[in-house]
Amino acid sequence: MKALVLAGGSGTRLRPFSYSMPKQLIPIANTPVLVHVLDNIRDLGVTDIGVIVGNRGPDIEAALGDGSRHGVKLTYLLQDAPRGLAHTVAVARDFLGDDDFVMYLGDNVLPEGVAATAEAFTVRRPAAQIVVHKVPDPRQFGVAELGPDGEVVRLVEKPAEPRSDMALVGVYFFTSAIHRAVDSIRPSARGELEITDAIQWLLASGAEVRATQYDGYWKDAGNVEDVLDCNRYLLERLAPAVAGHVDAASELVGTVVVEAGARVTRSRIEGPAIIGAGAVVEDSHIGPHTSIGRGCLVSDSGLENSIALDEASVSGVRGLRSSLIGRAASVGATEQGAGRYRLVVGDHTRVEVTV
Ligand code: DAU
Repeated sequence: MKALVLAGGSGTRLRPFSYSMPKQLIPIANTPVLVHVLDNIRDLGVTDIGVIVGNRGPDIEAALGDGSRHGVKLTYLLQDAPRGLAHTVAVARDFLGDDDFVMYLGDNVLPEGVAATAEAFTVRRPAAQIVVHKVPDPRQFGVAELGPDGEVVRLVEKPAEPRSDMALVGVYFFTSAIHRAVDSIRPSARGELEITDAIQWLLASGAEVRATQYDGYWKDAGNVEDVLDCNRYLLERLAPAVAGHVDAASELVGTVVVEAGARVTRSRIEGPAIIGAGAVVEDSHIGPHTSIGRGCLVSDSGLENSIALDEASVSGVRGLRSSLIGRAASVGATEQGAGRYRLVVGDHTRVEVTV
């Protein structure tokens, strides 16, 4: 079996971050979403992985290389524009050959993995095996209607009036039957070749499509709130480890990871939290639920339920909450006096202050 990981697309809901990095590289607990994805695929015993990339392909290649660091072999496949999930299957046609494959959306976070679905697919080999998850409002997802025996009856992409509460998770198992389906469908109203329509085509042609329900944690890390939520969840699963230097005046509480080369001085780190390699934290209160990226500088500050990306600096600001701070961004106290603010804010940035 092969895998096809989707790391193209535009990521508009993650602006301003997606202006400078593909959304699939946003770090969750200091590890890019895509690396979490590769780990899950490798755990299925699948190592031959095609990665669909768009115009941000070079960033993704720079981050993942040939995959050997993660125990997999990566082949990059360029999609000229985000023409839909089914279009990526056509782009990958030569790479996939007639092999079975798992298609995995590069922004989906499923820490409990999809081993049960892989097993069900391998045993029965339906034309498609999808993963579904019960959600309170499925309108922003593909929606599946299921029969009594786990068989899929109908699939609709982002319906205004969903007929079930089963959302499609972004992991799909296919035999080579999917290629004819992809070649047979037309673009949807939003102009994309939808994988949901290709699977619906399989159903209409009489092929077997089955579903497995996934009950673990699932998020599509497509906006800031969801990225922070994933960060909280994955930090909870870390094992404590201190490789960097923590001075005697600092206090680590709960599950804390301090990566190699990091320095923590006169600070309180409340877990779950991670301090990235080479970061400096002094006279600060970090956590809970906070990730400080590599090479960050945090001094005289307090961050809770937040992520600072690599090389960011925060100084003299206490009370930062639920914040996502971009790479090499700087957040500091103004010298203009209390109640005054100085902002240099990029496009589509969001700032919230108490006045
Ligand atoms: O997250 C689950 C949902 O993912 C499913 O419930 C939907 O049925 C499925 O269509 C998909 O919906 P989204 O609207 O969330 O898909 P999005 O455009 O965010 O793309 C998902 C991933 O695939 C993302 O990492 C970008 C990548 N992508 C997307 C498109 C449209 C590509 O690589 N190429 C593309 O052409």
